[in-house]
Amino acid sequence: MTQLHFPTSFNLVFFGGTGDLVTRKLLPAMYQCHQYNQLVEHGRIYCLGLESFSRDEFLAFVESKAREFVPKDEWNDATWATFQARLAYDKLDATKPEEYAALKARLEQTPAEVNVFYLSTAPFLFSIICENLARQGLNDFNSRVVLEKPLGHDLASSNQLTAEVGKHFDDRQVYRIDHYLGKESVQNLMALRFGNPLFEPLWRREWISNVQITIAEEVGIGTRAGFYDGAGALRDMLQNHLVQLLCFVAMEPPHSLDSCAVRDQKLKVLQSLLPFTEADVHAKTVRGQYRTGVTGGKTVPGYLDEEGIPADSKTETFVAVRADIANWRWAGVPFYLFTGKRLPARFTEIVIHFRDVPHPIFPVSEGQAPQPAKLVIRLQPEEYIRLYLSVKTPGDNMELQQVYLDLDFASKFKARREEAYERLLLDAIRGNQALFVRQDELEEAWVWVEPILNTWAADPKGPLPYAAGTWGPSASADLLSRDGYGWHEDS
Ligand code: BG6
Repeated sequence: MTQLHFPTSFNLVFFGGTGDLVTRKLLPAMYQCHQYNQLVEHGRIYCLGLESFSRDEFLAFVESKAREFVPKDEWNDATWATFQARLAYDKLDATKPEEYAALKARLEQTPAEVNVFYLSTAPFLFSIICENLARQGLNDFNSRVVLEKPLGHDLASSNQLTAEVGKHFDDRQVYRIDHYLGKESVQNLMALRFGNPLFEPLWRREWISNVQITIAEEVGIGTRAGFYDGAGALRDMLQNHLVQLLCFVAMEPPHSLDSCAVRDQKLKVLQSLLPFTEADVHAKTVRGQYRTGVTGGKTVPGYLDEEGIPADSKTETFVAVRADIANWRWAGVPFYLFTGKRLPARFTEIVIHFRDVPHPIFPVSEGQAPQPAKLVIRLQPEEYIRLYLSVKTPGDNMELQQVYLDLDFASKFKARREEAYERLLLDAIRGNQALFVRQDELEEAWVWVEPILNTWAADPKGPLPYAAGTWGPSASADLLSRDGYGWHEDS
């Protein structure tokens, strides 16, 4: 693995610098990096936005947000005071080329080894900003752009964006964020698979019957109607987060942790995903949309009653898909991907179901199904790995019961867990692209989901309704039961 060099100085520039993502996630993440001495002294953070804030107004605004989003026991007034010395705010209309000269002048006041431009803006601005930066020469090899999803709306728009950004920035300067890749638990998935030879011989079709990957959310769409209604669960969660998790489960061992080595292996998985025909889309995908229901003890409105959502919207808030990987390791092993909003609980989980014994010798009580071993990797909100195995229950009878071996990270490791954005921001500054999505991965992911998008768009039926606070349309359970499997629910 190449040794990472942390630059001796950096300028981090947030476009959309007063927006939700910057104030709720990115500045709190940088505050934590500062607090834990992960930033060099000469590191400046510039927030750009349309508001006419004085410096004091800006600092008061971001501090009030940070106090809300930094965990209470991590807040320290004195540390914040030293952190805010790194911050500055400038008014800039990103669509106006003439305003970039001031940005250039600003950065020249704090010349740095690396300039990182984080585009936390509406996607239509991405290519405009890149072009305007380039006009000022702010695209030299020490400059990087970080792009937040959505990266396109479909394959063509994604490719167009790639081409437009690519006119000004080489792919080695483009950092496409999928914040799931920054989660500690995703790193642990790599450690589990490639740090323990125990699993490797079993990690294949001969021993694994099916894999379930779930990202369940209790929240609805909040105040993001404008974005969400144009996207839906498939674009918002499946095309990126779920597909990336699938890649980490299914990829071959990389020869090193080098960013090329890891991303090359993920790419091969994406290239092996079995394409969907129109008939497959009908048979192997389920889309749903929440109706009013009860979650967390409260009655919540249905999707169509959310503010800003058209009454006839066909946008899906739930999606379940059976994915198949056409290669020697995984042929015939279904990967079920699920995600939805307004479900009964929030968790992200990967469940590896192993095959049953070839010849059962233990009695199974009537009405009870055999219980093959399974490995549950819970990524959030708790982080644990549980290996479910059958053991004999104490007593005279030879009865088996399934229990689990438990590795609970919070009780095992007392150290603070970094937020995904802390790791990703540090990586963008130190030039480590391993946890960012490469252009070819992005493209393959769109190639794979596009038939689903097209078939759904042409199907007047629209998504199936499900009550908020339930596990989505019943058809999603049928997706598994048809193949002889059931949903895993970890308690
Ligand atoms: C974002 C999606 O990428 O991920 C949101 O746009 C979703 O709709 C969020 O709520 C979930 O992230 P996390 O880290 O809370 O699981």
